[in-house]
Amino acid sequence: MGWNSWNAVSCEVTEADIRAAADALVDTGLREAGYEYVVVDDCWMADELDSKGRLQPSTAFPDGMAALADYVHDRGLQFGLYSAAGSHTCQGYPATLGREQLHAEQFAAWGVDYLKYDNCGDHHGRDAIARYAAMGDALAGVDRDIIYSICEWGENRPWQWGRNVGGHCWRTTDDLVAKWRTDPDEFGLGIADVIDRMAAINAAASHGPGGWNDPDMLQIGNDHESGQSKHEPVTVHRPLTEAERRTHFAFWCLWAAPLMIGTDLTSLSTFDRELLANERLLAINQDRLGIQGTPDERNENSEVWSKRLADGGAAVAFHNRAGAKREITTHVVDTDIPEGADRYQVCDCWTGNEWTTNGSLAMTVRPRDTAIVRVTPQ
Ligand code: GLA
Repeated sequence: MGWNSWNAVSCEVTEADIRAAADALVDTGLREAGYEYVVVDDCWMADELDSKGRLQPSTAFPDGMAALADYVHDRGLQFGLYSAAGSHTCQGYPATLGREQLHAEQFAAWGVDYLKYDNCGDHHGRDAIARYAAMGDALAGVDRDIIYSICEWGENRPWQWGRNVGGHCWRTTDDLVAKWRTDPDEFGLGIADVIDRMAAINAAASHGPGGWNDPDMLQIGNDHESGQSKHEPVTVHRPLTEAERRTHFAFWCLWAAPLMIGTDLTSLSTFDRELLANERLLAINQDRLGIQGTPDERNENSEVWSKRLADGGAAVAFHNRAGAKREITTHVVDTDIPEGADRYQVCDCWTGNEWTTNGSLAMTVRPRDTAIVRVTPQ
């Protein structure tokens, strides 16, 4: 859980943005809710490596990365940086391929706790597994624990090898944009596109403590004015609706996905802050077993997904794909809830309302919205 600069400020990122985000995580209470990592994405580096091949910060980071890491650490947070397993980053800045050891040592010396490692630039004829393993080995060799976040976009099924190369999480899918769906000729995927894709790739078996499928960073709070929306070739017409934002957060929590906030925290709305800090949703996301929710039923009008939890219960999500409000039903036997109890306690994670059932579950859901309940056998 944390915050990453890309969706908010894209390639305009500055040292001041990172400091402001760290301060805002504290001031909004989101650090207390569990958001811990502050990650500087692409464009922090100067146009040229130094004479030894090391990365240098751009003039937008005048105090340098060690001082910025200290600032973040002083606020009880962890510091992350970005590079790529190619000659260049996605924005054309120098990257790490062939200099893994040197750069891993720099990151450790600066106090980096998290590395997002992207897939752009020239690959020098080396495949993804070899390139990502080289950085995994380099990070394992330095005297600092650094979370290794593989950003390979799911192109070579990284859920099959991400752990083996030392990865702690790996992107499953293309970049998420602040839209419900994208057109085929547009950049990236919308929320509903990622839900479809996560169902199709069926990668839940690879996911769990120490190695997580990553469907990309959150777009809650973003619109056409946000950094990524302005930077990438995608047309964002309006902010995500409240229903779309609830669905976005509900699925990322049900998937036990990394939760990297991607919006400007200095102007966060009350709705978005409360959504991101929802304790019932975060308990599902952070559940000790770390199981990724999977689909029980998907049809043209509705979807039901569930996820077993450490207390012997499960979370169940009811998503309305249709254009009108509808009741979506299921039964414990058709979900990941353990069977055989006489009664089950149900808690609506949005409202906190509680009731009991002998096994039938029915939720009324608005279009594009998602109801999510926690069900515990009694
Ligand atoms: C790729 C990644 C994004 C972001 C940009 C930065 O598109 O998938 O998450 O890091 O590069 O250029």
